[in-house]
Amino acid sequence: MGKRVISPGGIVDGVVELPGDKSISHRYAIIAALAEGRSDIQNYASAADCRSTLECLRRLGVEIESSERRVRIDGAGLDGWKEPRKPLDAENSGSTMRMLAGALAGQPFTSTLTGDESLRRRPMRRVIEPLRQMGAEIRARDGDRAPIEIRGAHLHAIDYAPPIPSAQVKSAVLLAGLYADGVTTVRESVCTRDHTEIALREFGATVEGTKNAIRIHPRPKLVAQQLVVPGDLSAAVFLIAAALVLPESSLMLHNVGLNPTRARVLDFFVSIGAPVHVASLQMRHGELVGDVSVRHAPIAGGTVAGAQVAEMIDELPMLGALGPFTEKGIEIHDAKELRVKESDRIAALAVGLRQMGARVEEFDDGMRVEGRSAGKLRGAKVDPQGDHRIAMALAVAALGAEGDTTIRDADCAAVSFPEFFATLDRLRGAEKR
Ligand code: S3P
Repeated sequence: MGKRVISPGGIVDGVVELPGDKSISHRYAIIAALAEGRSDIQNYASAADCRSTLECLRRLGVEIESSERRVRIDGAGLDGWKEPRKPLDAENSGSTMRMLAGALAGQPFTSTLTGDESLRRRPMRRVIEPLRQMGAEIRARDGDRAPIEIRGAHLHAIDYAPPIPSAQVKSAVLLAGLYADGVTTVRESVCTRDHTEIALREFGATVEGTKNAIRIHPRPKLVAQQLVVPGDLSAAVFLIAAALVLPESSLMLHNVGLNPTRARVLDFFVSIGAPVHVASLQMRHGELVGDVSVRHAPIAGGTVAGAQVAEMIDELPMLGALGPFTEKGIEIHDAKELRVKESDRIAALAVGLRQMGARVEEFDDGMRVEGRSAGKLRGAKVDPQGDHRIAMALAVAALGAEGDTTIRDADCAAVSFPEFFATLDRLRGAEKR
């Protein structure tokens, strides 16, 4: 994969249409594949992860037509998936593997889910455990790692409280709940993103939500839908951060997904002094969408901990990398989950930022990145460890460094945001016109 050299300076200025949200795209694709009829999904994520989901669904016999940003899925119905002849390869995508595991637990056949080296290192017991309780037979390498082999079964409804807050685990249990013999309940101590619940309702399932308990009724008739995926807020965050690093920058981001279970990061930006504004809010298919604007301003820094962590989990690498551009620095606690993402994100970010001259203290469950008083970053050769969000976070930090930064394998950004570097180039080019 290709390296990228980031030269510092300039401004970002302009208007951006973001690619479709990665989390929502996975869910629309999986649920459309279980529905009856042809669904039409516009602004489907360009993220490589979401292509992986489509490939797995194709291997399950689902007919899918996909062009640039539009996907048409001929739903096979709850009982229409076919036993795959080969393992289903989720590549780098934890969401694909964990959510599909849920739907596969209820199928009358055996299937195997595998992934790339990073995904095969990540913990899967968290999803295996509840699906076993529901009656599926599952074997995994070392009991916890992919490849995982799932022998589907007649499932029993369970009442499950995942020990770790995880939208992927919640979604797996809810999808398995479609095949259960009664009402399945998932209890959350901390609310995680609720796109699965919203999407299942859009397709016709009965999903009831009380505070922190979600109940799904089995065997709904899922009906094909015409949907438009909102822009990806988690991708937008890298561009917002670029505007905060580069003085005089100003950006307008259109049609961004602002689901409250995801948008806490915008509140955090505001709390540290970033002039982030939201306008034109509307509800589309149960998801909140709006325009987000940001202007450069000096930012104070702050701490992310407790319940905020689950709501901003994918944004933490970028927030950490903003530390050297803040007054007080950025501190992150209660985020041990970062160690089992596409990379050990605490270690990968700490190493990369230190190579650029930042002062970073690593904790078991987080980090502290010193603010401006620790000195300006300097360009360096950094390795994002194959992790898309680390690559983009380091690239944004590099914009404010002295001298060029070379990011190894920077193209891994395509896992969630293939247009990232081109968008950054375009927005920085705007000043020269
Ligand atoms: C996701 C949930 C989160 C997040 C991931 C996407 C989802 O993972 O980090 O990028 O789409 O449900 P966990 O469920 O492991 O917290």
